[in-house]
Amino acid sequence: MVHETILIVDDDEVVSRFLHGVLSPLYSIVSVYSAFEALILIDQGLKPDLILSDLMMPEMDGYEFCSRLKQDERTKDIPIIMVTALSQPQQEEKGLILGAADYISKPVRVELLKARVKTHLQLKAYREHLQALLESKTHQLIDSQKELCAKAIEVRHLFETMGELLASRDHYTSEHALRVAAISVRMGREVGLGSKDLEILELGCLVHDIGKVAIPDDVLLKPGRFDKEDRQIMEYHPLIGGQLFTDRFADGRLALIIRQHHERLDGSGYPDGATGDEIDDLVKIVMVADVYEALVARRPYKQPMSREKALSILREDADQGKCLDSMVRILEKVTIDWDPLQIHLDLASGYLSSLELFRRKTYFREPLSDFYNYRYLAALEGAGGLCRESQHYHIVKADFNELKELNCRIGYAKADTILDQIGHFFHNLVEDTLLEYAIPINALMLLRRGSDYLIYSEIDPVILEKLAGACREVLAESSRQWEIKATISIACFAKGKRVDDALEEIYGYHNEPAGGAP
Ligand SMILES: [Fe+2]
Ligand SMILES: [Fe+2]
Repeated sequence: MVHETILIVDDDEVVSRFLHGVLSPLYSIVSVYSAFEALILIDQGLKPDLILSDLMMPEMDGYEFCSRLKQDERTKDIPIIMVTALSQPQQEEKGLILGAADYISKPVRVELLKARVKTHLQLKAYREHLQALLESKTHQLIDSQKELCAKAIEVRHLFETMGELLASRDHYTSEHALRVAAISVRMGREVGLGSKDLEILELGCLVHDIGKVAIPDDVLLKPGRFDKEDRQIMEYHPLIGGQLFTDRFADGRLALIIRQHHERLDGSGYPDGATGDEIDDLVKIVMVADVYEALVARRPYKQPMSREKALSILREDADQGKCLDSMVRILEKVTIDWDPLQIHLDLASGYLSSLELFRRKTYFREPLSDFYNYRYLAALEGAGGLCRESQHYHIVKADFNELKELNCRIGYAKADTILDQIGHFFHNLVEDTLLEYAIPINALMLLRRGSDYLIYSEIDPVILEKLAGACREVLAESSRQWEIKATISIACFAKGKRVDDALEEIYGYHNEPAGGAP
């Protein structure tokens, strides 16, 4: 059995021997005759479990000895019992203040000495046990905290991955989500949200438009106005995204941010027409951040709006009870000297942007044909890609009135080939005109809309009339060859008129107001 070690420090040999005699059957004893000797032994590695020290010693008394031990990290926890002939209460007090554990007066009573030594050794053992327990629990706590942090980082990466997944369908929506997250978190901090709320807010924003992965390209990438059907399809996105997240995460607010981000406090939003308190508090932040980003961001089909204009639109929304005025004010505050547009989606490789380019290119082409369709015109207009230097622009329409009859007579495949052939004649005429008059490329374009051909023109009407005349000749020849009937008409529009409106006038269809869902 290993005994505890007791260090006896006393310059009186008689006392020292007495103490040794009493305690040596029970403990390992080391005796020295001065405090200096004791300190040297400790420096050399002695680790006593308890020290019995005389108070009155030459050179270094028991007080100073005690004080030095208590200041040393290695020895500060060793219990020290003062053994002395002095018995004034002040002296006892001084020893205890300096850190002594106890006090025994000479002449020493054997049983009292044994009892005190035993008690202090037990106390030390308990203390060490508790210390070890505390250290082990602290380590466990640190380990589980590290694990939690690693998990939180993994979860965040997972959400970022989902956002990037959306980037492969729609790069801009993914970038929009990053910015909405950054705006919302800044607003959340301003509101005084705690770290857990901020985490849910950020994660929810990163995937708030995730449901758009299920929206067809025709709607998702449409640059022009949304018709009723487009709008209905697009309005599925919070539902689809919300369903993906419902009941899968402990915090139900994640799914709510996704499902409710297009709701409005007055019930005018979608998909549920939720009102006031039915809408989660975090969503009340997101709905404002979401609209703001959609308004101020540049997109291929729309010009960016100024911060002031976007804020004034949101203020109007707040006046109408759609969103909280306090949130608009907070948004105003966080965007005073910080612009969310500085955040860009950092695509890991160039293939996503190449894919995106290809998809947009094919989206702007009429199926199975080489020609750009009319949507390309709206996209160019939105991106400021049209010159519009003169006061008017024209749209020439080659209308194949009796295509149905032609399809029946010669079959769809043959009729398509003829239409393509005519289109190539038109294309050559447009190219020749561009070259001959050195016309900027977007000022004269041949486009297709279903079976019709359209020529968008910002050129001199006289030159255009000449081009239209050449197109009429192509049609006259085609009519002779294939009995295909077509008419050419030219419509003139003021330069401020949107292409969508001009086409609406030409075709007489009605569109819903502009804009996709942010
Ligand atoms: Fe959305
Ligand atoms: Fe959005």
